Amino acid sequence: MCGIVAYVGHREACPVILKGLKRLEYRGYDSAGIALMNSDLTVYKKKGKVADLEAHLAGQDISGNIGMGHTRWATHGEPNDVNAHPHFSTSRNIAIIHNGIIENYAALKTLLEEKGHTFQSETDSEVFINLIEDIRINNKCSLEEAVRLALHEVVGAYAIVVLSKDAPNQLVAARKGSPLVVGIGEGEFFLASDATPIIEYTKDVVYLNDYELAVIKDGQLDIRTKEDIKQTPYVQHLEMELESIEKGGFEHFMLKEIYEQPRSILDNMRGRMVAEKDHLMMGGIREFENKFVNADRIIIVACGTSWHAGLVAEYLIEDLARIPVEVEYASEFRYRNPIVNERDIVIAISQSGETADTLAALELAKSKGATIFGICNVVGSSIARATDAGAYTHAGPEIGVASTKAFTAQVTVLTLIAMIIGSKRGTLENSKLRQLMVEMENIPAKVEECLKLDAQIQQIAAVFKDVTNFLYLGRGYNFPVALEGALKLKEISYIHAEGYPAAEMKHGPIALIDAQMPVVVIATKDSSYEKVVSNIQEVRARKGQVIAIVTQGDQVIPSMADYVIEIPETSEQLVPLLSVIPLQLLSYHIAVLRGCNVDQPRNLAKSVTVE
Ligand code: G6P
Repeated sequence: MCGIVAYVGHREACPVILKGLKRLEYRGYDSAGIALMNSDLTVYKKKGKVADLEAHLAGQDISGNIGMGHTRWATHGEPNDVNAHPHFSTSRNIAIIHNGIIENYAALKTLLEEKGHTFQSETDSEVFINLIEDIRINNKCSLEEAVRLALHEVVGAYAIVVLSKDAPNQLVAARKGSPLVVGIGEGEFFLASDATPIIEYTKDVVYLNDYELAVIKDGQLDIRTKEDIKQTPYVQHLEMELESIEKGGFEHFMLKEIYEQPRSILDNMRGRMVAEKDHLMMGGIREFENKFVNADRIIIVACGTSWHAGLVAEYLIEDLARIPVEVEYASEFRYRNPIVNERDIVIAISQSGETADTLAALELAKSKGATIFGICNVVGSSIARATDAGAYTHAGPEIGVASTKAFTAQVTVLTLIAMIIGSKRGTLENSKLRQLMVEMENIPAKVEECLKLDAQIQQIAAVFKDVTNFLYLGRGYNFPVALEGALKLKEISYIHAEGYPAAEMKHGPIALIDAQMPVVVIATKDSSYEKVVSNIQEVRARKGQVIAIVTQGDQVIPSMADYVIEIPETSEQLVPLLSVIPLQLLSYHIAVLRGCNVDQPRNLAKSVTVE
């Protein structure tokens, strides 16, 4: 949450920072601000999107080769001009941008107020910068020393960048719990919450670790721990291409990402599986194969859409590998004194690799001796680095706040894992394994076929765009898909939607059904098909409007559903990879028709780095 970007070098800083902020807007978009150093240290900030900040900058002196910017997702203090970042210290000599939460800010604020510091905003970040100033005055020390000492006083999470009038060519940054990447160009440096603002200029980056401080001055990068121990930066060369973070002709990132799924699923399997050669291998779990094979239990921790992918994995792993699986909301798991031991494997699933609750949940499991496995999309992210082993989902950057291609990529990886463990444990027969491998290879082409349903789904969306409630039903492998379909609709169209296991409908949601209630039923040909058909009848009997997702060629459901969306046939275990596609498209079109901001839905952020 919150995006931060800073620049120092030979270019004009302002355009680099504004462009970077736009790339980071998925992290929050309540307000935006920029600090530039020229003859003075000047801060401009505005409630709203980066575009509002840009308009506010018109006619101002925005020159300078050093500066920093911020796009906010409010935690402390409502979104307005004053609470927007950057924040000045009381003397206005130093300014900060901050992503994270300072938990002891109230106590620090009282202390600082007693010492004469004054505050303009309600933010914890303004407390942080005044603390730095206070230390600097009291200790008569350099800016970097004051920042370093301040890190010993604050409790919570932060990625910060600090600029000072007295050190006009210097950027000081630090992180704990919130991500921060340093980009190293030719005579220039970048700092950002992720690499997307950087890759246009350089692909050489250093991911800062927790409790590290980066000082950039005189063309040098110096990294130290908060104990002042010098670190040798580990420079990584990123493979990310610029096209992957642009819309490429699509109206929205979300639509582009939906359409990328045939490719992202394929990329995911590349090198890991070739059916013809009976090749099935995943580097990340190889080393831990025995642990997986002998595990008493697998616990999956995740949030949001990643949690839904975890639910699909529960069905897959129990079905194919016969290991008990528990799927936990990371936020609950971390606070409920869970029973975890050394024979457990904990899989943390996270697109961003930065979700605070998921990170904390895995740290807790680690402290209890479990083996931690990560499934992340963002390379080098905090979760990816905190795990014992893991697999990347290789979906490429996902910018739309509502997750789409990351979900199918997660499910693909988890399917391969279930197949690998199942075959090693002897719970998955060779013939079945082979059949699944062949069918997995057909999935990208079948997703392509699902995408051809776009125009039909757009028409259905037009019929239902003004309703206030939606129900999604599915059974077995399609139950998590029903949850995911409902979540997609809620997130981007603000229509209330609930996902339910189809059979549970009669224990409550059935009371909601009337002629105004659209019910999306995922009724593909699988082991619970007949039962789902009965559920459709139950909805019909109460005049609910049925939108059914069925297997191509279904002869039964078309006569009882109001709308029928046909998807290709596949193995039961692989159905979520297809059945979710029409639901993504349905939510997308409804949101567009309602005039919603699809890529940046209200109140949400893509990377939730606060608990
Ligand atoms: C936020 C995003 C969701 C995402 C969830 C978990 O709520 O808006 O799209 O599913 O966080 O994020 P993660 O990066 O851990 O998968």
